[in-house]
Amino acid sequence: MDCLCFWSLSKPFYILLFFFSFPRLIASAAFNLSTISFDEGYSPLFGDGNLVRSPNGRTARLLLDRFTGAGFISSKMYKYGFFSANIKLPGDYTAGLCVAFYTSNGDVFEKTHDELDFEFLGNTEGKPWRFQTNLYGNGSTSRGREERYRLWFDPSKQFHRYSILWTAKNIIFYIDDVPIREVIRSEEMGGEYPSKPMSLYATIWDASNWATSGGKYKVNYKYAPFVSEFKDFVLEGCPSDPIEEFPSVECYESYSRLESADYATITRRQRSAMRKFRQRYMYYSYCYDSLRYPVPPPECVVIPSEKDRFRNTGRLRFGGSHQGRKRRSRRRGRVQVSSIEYDPDV
Ligand SMILES: *[C@@H]1O[C@H](CO)[C@@H](O)[C@H](O)[C@H]1NC(C)=O
Repeated sequence: MDCLCFWSLSKPFYILLFFFSFPRLIASAAFNLSTISFDEGYSPLFGDGNLVRSPNGRTARLLLDRFTGAGFISSKMYKYGFFSANIKLPGDYTAGLCVAFYTSNGDVFEKTHDELDFEFLGNTEGKPWRFQTNLYGNGSTSRGREERYRLWFDPSKQFHRYSILWTAKNIIFYIDDVPIREVIRSEEMGGEYPSKPMSLYATIWDASNWATSGGKYKVNYKYAPFVSEFKDFVLEGCPSDPIEEFPSVECYESYSRLESADYATITRRQRSAMRKFRQRYMYYSYCYDSLRYPVPPPECVVIPSEKDRFRNTGRLRFGGSHQGRKRRSRRRGRVQVSSIEYDPDV
């Protein structure tokens, strides 16, 4: 939505706009990254025919049609790492669709798995994609730590970089160079901090039963195939055997490389972009969901001014500026704020 008229504005005005305009969230220069080809880091996971690699091997497309979705997985497991790709999501009618980019070790540790997720949830035509991040540490899915958000751009129009940084100290989810969520390891988290080797996964699948408005809108195969595109892969970290107890010497070198990388430090400007993103685009947080967690899990940093914006269900009180749509009920001639009815994830 960067309009062409931007450059014709006077300089002070431009600077003001740069810092305050609505959809711009720019944090710093891009990261210093070295990318790999698909075959250098990944293998097909499922839906073979629906995983399509470009001739030069630098791009992979995952398709969902009425027969199957598709997915790929990193060929190795990593303990700590930076997992990143430029991703473009399907456009038009995408209700019921889920595109996921995540790390997990659920195949190896069924009962005590770790997981870090980006999950993109499609929507009906004209309505934007939503997404959530989640984290599981050493446990079944009983203790999810979801946050849900809107995006400040249309993810089906251009590629954007989605990244997960996982170190011994913290976890950062990034979109482009904007950190959108940071989880800092604390003593109290204990074994709930992910600490066993994980694989990177990317998948597209039919999540008709929950993705859009709690399952109200299903995948409509009239619009198939749904195509999600991945490129400029980055896979940094220490390849590790999931059942080996002690990491090798090389791993310690890799950990310190990771911790000194530019993406491991959030600059002041990035932190301010993160705060803005969370104020404007987050519409659910498990940390404020006191029905589910009467005592917030240990990593939660409860910010009173932020908490005030959420109900005890963890959902926005007024649907936020984006959703603060007043719906006029003709029958009763009454105006009601309809964030509950409107929230796709209730
Ligand atoms: C993970 O959970 C298992 C089973 O509950 C427990 O035995 C183990 O000690 C936990 N690991 C850590 C690091 O806390």
